[in-house]
Amino acid sequence: MSSCPFHQPFFPKPLSNKASLFFTFFKKRRSWLDGLYERSYSMKTGRVKMPGLDLHVINQPDLVHRVLVDEVSEFPKNKLLGHLLEPLLGESIFTTNGDQWKKQREMLNPSFEMTRISHVFGLMNDAVKELGERLHSNGSENHLNIDPEMTYVTADIIFRTILSARLDRNDAMQIIEAFVMFQEETARTAMRTMFKIPQWLWFLTGESKRIKAGNAVRDVLADIIRPRYDAVTSNTIGAERDILSSLLTAVDADTGERFSFEEILDQVAMLFLAGHETSASALTWTIYLLSLYPEIQERAYDEVIRITGEGEFDPLQIKQMDLITNIFKETLRLYPPVGFFARENANETLMRGKTIAKGSSVVVAPWLIHRHKEFWENPNGFDPDRFNDPQSIHKDTYLPFGMGPRICIGASFAMQEAVLILATIIRDFKIELQEGFVPDVVGRLTVRSANGMHVILKRRANG
Ligand code: HEM
Repeated sequence: MSSCPFHQPFFPKPLSNKASLFFTFFKKRRSWLDGLYERSYSMKTGRVKMPGLDLHVINQPDLVHRVLVDEVSEFPKNKLLGHLLEPLLGESIFTTNGDQWKKQREMLNPSFEMTRISHVFGLMNDAVKELGERLHSNGSENHLNIDPEMTYVTADIIFRTILSARLDRNDAMQIIEAFVMFQEETARTAMRTMFKIPQWLWFLTGESKRIKAGNAVRDVLADIIRPRYDAVTSNTIGAERDILSSLLTAVDADTGERFSFEEILDQVAMLFLAGHETSASALTWTIYLLSLYPEIQERAYDEVIRITGEGEFDPLQIKQMDLITNIFKETLRLYPPVGFFARENANETLMRGKTIAKGSSVVVAPWLIHRHKEFWENPNGFDPDRFNDPQSIHKDTYLPFGMGPRICIGASFAMQEAVLILATIIRDFKIELQEGFVPDVVGRLTVRSANGMHVILKRRANG
């Protein structure tokens, strides 16, 4: 097992006891991770009661399976989450339920089949090459915050593969800033809802900023989609073979109907956000972990050189990079970008002999399950080699992409993109953490570092 004698990957020290309601309100407004306590990482199930919320946390694997796989219609996606994301994502596949979700998933599936994923490799690689040029442009020792670079490259990849459009830096920054604002205000709105603070007070606080931020992101996307939507409805189909083109021409098998403009905008907004925010978060954390473990970095470098030499990357080589794949998987274990999945209980039911009332919230949190003391050896340590033997991973305890019918549609896309980006960086640079830098991990919609990720990229002799 690999270990680092000096560092343990950072994670916020849990409280020793369950926090008071008052404390929870102020702490969790910033990050839901701040409200966790030690037992959260060893309990089978837990309960959090707030004035506007009765929430059950499920860590026990067979119950996780029941919620996410066996009884999906009994545990639909949480309405509060849908309401919180609505200004940005409308009625997108991420939050809908039942027949509406089924129709959306059937129409999106073809865009994410394996053949399509390798088909978009060239587009991904173009964006990653430009990332490489940006990273090289600051001399042989580049001191930088890598987080915005990861956000930019993953957003650029989504633009190229979904919309056949290039994302220039100004547009990127505008969208990214709006989204950061949206995330921060959404965490506050969530807490206000849970504490039943009257709605009229919200507008004195940040609700209008949140709605404006959601609209800012949607406006940029609507401007790109509109001409292509109009072209398809007037039967002049463009030459693009991207994910938007398959959405524009997708037909509901039962009704023969196509997606409306608003429906397409909702899905694209969702794909854009789910597709870059999660990957950017995971890549930033991977760079952080590599900086803490130089010997794992060297092994990864040897792997890239052995498989590719100094030549161009191709999709088959990416598939052969087992160590880099395991490094990314282990990062997804320690810092799962989607830290919790929010469901609700459609009917009264029993779990571990306790009654769960109809309408209560049910949460499955990879953040907790992935660090659970019962399921993982050295749960807070970084050990990519644990994935060499998939049999050694307890069933239903590793779920960065979710499980069951609502599993991430973009998982293969994300794995291909991540390994390509990491291989590109690892081949050209040694990664070090800037002296004294400690990331401030926060749980909002995704798990991010609030103070960025300050590293030094040292160009290798062949880089
Ligand atoms: C490392 C990167 C990613 C991670 C960790 C991730 C994680 C997840 C998780 C955990 C879910 C399920 C949430 C739940 O059950 O409540 C999900 C759903 C989804 N993800 Fe991802 N995702 C990633 C990348 C992507 C990419 C690149 C795309 C598309 C380009 C994407 C599109 C989606 C969609 C459409 C759903 C909703 C599926 C449904 O409800 O049917 N994701 N993702």
